[in-house]
Amino acid sequence: MINTKYYIFVRVGTLRARFRNRMLRSNQLITSTPKLLRKFFSSKSSSVLHRPSSEELEITERSKNLLVMASSCKIKDQFHEFFPEMLRCLKNSPPLHKLPSMQEWVEKIVEYNLKGGKMNRGMAVVESFMILKNHQVSEEEKNTAIALGWAVEMLQAFFLVADDIMDGSLTRRMKPCWYRTNNLGVKAFNDSILLESLIYQIVSSYCKNQHYYLPVLELFHDVTMRTSLGQAMDLHSAPNPNEAPDLSKFTVETYDAIVKYKTAYYSFYLPVAVAMRLAGIQDNDLLKRAEDILLPMGRFFQVQDDYLDCFGDPEITGKIGTDIEDGKCSWLIVTALPMCDSAQRQLIEAHYGLKNTESVNLVKSLYQQFDIPKLYTEYEERSYKELTQMIEGIKHQLPTSIFQGFMEKIYKRLN
Ligand code: IPE
Ligand code: IPE
Ligand code: MN
Ligand code: MN
Repeated sequence: MINTKYYIFVRVGTLRARFRNRMLRSNQLITSTPKLLRKFFSSKSSSVLHRPSSEELEITERSKNLLVMASSCKIKDQFHEFFPEMLRCLKNSPPLHKLPSMQEWVEKIVEYNLKGGKMNRGMAVVESFMILKNHQVSEEEKNTAIALGWAVEMLQAFFLVADDIMDGSLTRRMKPCWYRTNNLGVKAFNDSILLESLIYQIVSSYCKNQHYYLPVLELFHDVTMRTSLGQAMDLHSAPNPNEAPDLSKFTVETYDAIVKYKTAYYSFYLPVAVAMRLAGIQDNDLLKRAEDILLPMGRFFQVQDDYLDCFGDPEITGKIGTDIEDGKCSWLIVTALPMCDSAQRQLIEAHYGLKNTESVNLVKSLYQQFDIPKLYTEYEERSYKELTQMIEGIKHQLPTSIFQGFMEKIYKRLN
């Protein structure tokens, strides 16, 4: 028995766990003994959220294949299972109550635009909340966290529907962008507004009588404003159609401001801040400490997004890039510009921001010439190390697994 090796199929969703100094990836098959497995699941350093019960770890000679369902998977399943309940609640909300045709329309918008993404933001609310509460939560508390997770995904859908119209994108999450369906065109803007209003239906339906209702509401309002400001900066830094780009706008400082506002607040700070309020944390200093790590993490995420826009595989990212065509202030252009000689600068001035394949390819070949993919890999490594250190620095104030969980989900991501 002692020397028997057991196969264990670690299902940890996108979360990765450390096992005997090795990083495990999701769905990786490893061999182990019951004793080691017990040790693994009881160690605090493992980032697996769900520690299987002793029965779950009971391995018999007959069942050598042990399927360990780590709880990020379990939570993800619960998160998805809650979707119909949330939808029912929205359709029964007073404004929609007597409008059956609009109930159907809302269902259609929500089904199309809330599903198919990575769900990083929504899941982060639930996972952070569980960690802050030491996994000691009632079913009701967990459902409130899940509902608020969906509210954050609703905010994401609201911004993405508008973003795709403004950026002239073609696909999102492997499907045509919403505005390109149902003969919508610019009419989709109203659906974006509708999606925003649904955030507040969720928040009030699930939190109205709670002490954290007002702080959570304020968080959503404040972060929405910041994100719209970021989107405005993003749009204003790009040239108008048929105009040459103003290359003086493409600086690291401008880039940092854009991505902090358009991405970091709503994608990283918001989910954790919501979870903290939900867990009853009222100390604003603590929220600030979390923000100090989450905003740089958001920058890291947007740099990845910019890289994938140009060098990612649309079959994996689910979206076809438009940053060069749109003349966006992306990490790639901000990194490439200082390396340009005057001829290369002229090439960018002439071709950046044009919607034709030839111009796009000229810009891309310049990126290749500058070894941007290599610079990106170096940035990713360096940034990962810096963020890991920052996380280490707050271990006495906040549970580090909240931030590590986020980090493990996005490091070296391809979508
Ligand atoms: C896309 O976000 C918008 C950005 C802020 C870069 P995600 O890459 O998280 O998109 P989904 O929700 O997983 O589709
Ligand atoms: C979008 O950034 C950020 C928001 C939606 C607020 P991008 O414009 O880069 O997003 P993608 O690449 O289309 O997802
Ligand atoms: Mn955009
Ligand atoms: Mn992008």
